[in-house]
Amino acid sequence: MVAGPALFRLAFAARCPSLPRMAKDRTLATIAVYSLKGGVGKTTFAINLAWASASISKRRTLLWDLDPQAASSWLISTDQTSRDAAQAIFSKDVEVRKLIQPSTVPGLDLIAADTSLRGLDHLFREMDKKKRLARLIDSLGKDYDRIILDCPPGLTETSEQVLRAADLIVIPVIPSPLSQRAMGEVARYLVQRGGSPAPILPVYSMVDRRRSLHRKALDDQPGWPAIPMASAIEQMTVRRKPLGAFASTSPPAREFAALWTRIERQLGDR
Ligand SMILES: Nc1ncnc2c1ncn2[C@@H]1O[C@H](COP(=O)(O)OP(=O)(O)OP(=O)(O)O)[C@@H](O)[C@H]1O
Ligand SMILES: [Mg+2]
Repeated sequence: MVAGPALFRLAFAARCPSLPRMAKDRTLATIAVYSLKGGVGKTTFAINLAWASASISKRRTLLWDLDPQAASSWLISTDQTSRDAAQAIFSKDVEVRKLIQPSTVPGLDLIAADTSLRGLDHLFREMDKKKRLARLIDSLGKDYDRIILDCPPGLTETSEQVLRAADLIVIPVIPSPLSQRAMGEVARYLVQRGGSPAPILPVYSMVDRRRSLHRKALDDQPGWPAIPMASAIEQMTVRRKPLGAFASTSPPAREFAALWTRIERQLGDR
């Protein structure tokens, strides 16, 4: 059985930088923030990485909220009226551009989630179009440089679509055995599934260096970026803003900026 650090090396071995979908003339890159587990920091990552893309890199950026909980949408939407239309994009009942709205962050657009997405797994199964999300993303290639996907947890039809559409899969990992196991499961799944999986970038989330378990996890994977547990991050939900918009010089904001730089570098190596 493959386990522990060996499995993580396996995950990195899943990198395949010369995929056909990464044509030379294409500047668009899709970054999925994904995890099997809930509550690990996906939405927090998605919002702050999207902010960094739009504000630091000045990229034309779209945040696509695929989670029916609609947390990203609640945090940065300029229009809080739910239209129950988010799922209709996928059945082509609504043109994807019609649901793009500006967010509260300059330079960052949003496709908001709503509760209609609860039926998305069922819809994808019924449609039997394995690359529907990837094709919709491709259709936006002229309009955006970076598309960030805030994903629901789980290994579902929706995550299948996400894993196929992404150029890079960022996985927040709380330094705990369960969260690390979930990360290993995703890596194992991608390898077993075959094809040309996108590279995965595990990132420690909610790190508290006072805890010995966290310090040990960091020692085990010194190459993984780490986002600290921070009250400024909790404040995001009170202020409904990305960190950069109200605490841009705080340590966690700097860690997110560094993470974004690393992501850009990795995308540049494609
Ligand atoms: N580094 C951090 N420091 C402090 N609080 C954090 C940090 N990261 C996330 N949180 C808080 O933890 C909670 C869960 O984070 P978040 O919503 O980003 O997780 P998620 O993986 O998107 O959850 P879900 O699976 O429900 O979509 C939120 O209240 C968020 O503000
Ligand atoms: Mg979330």
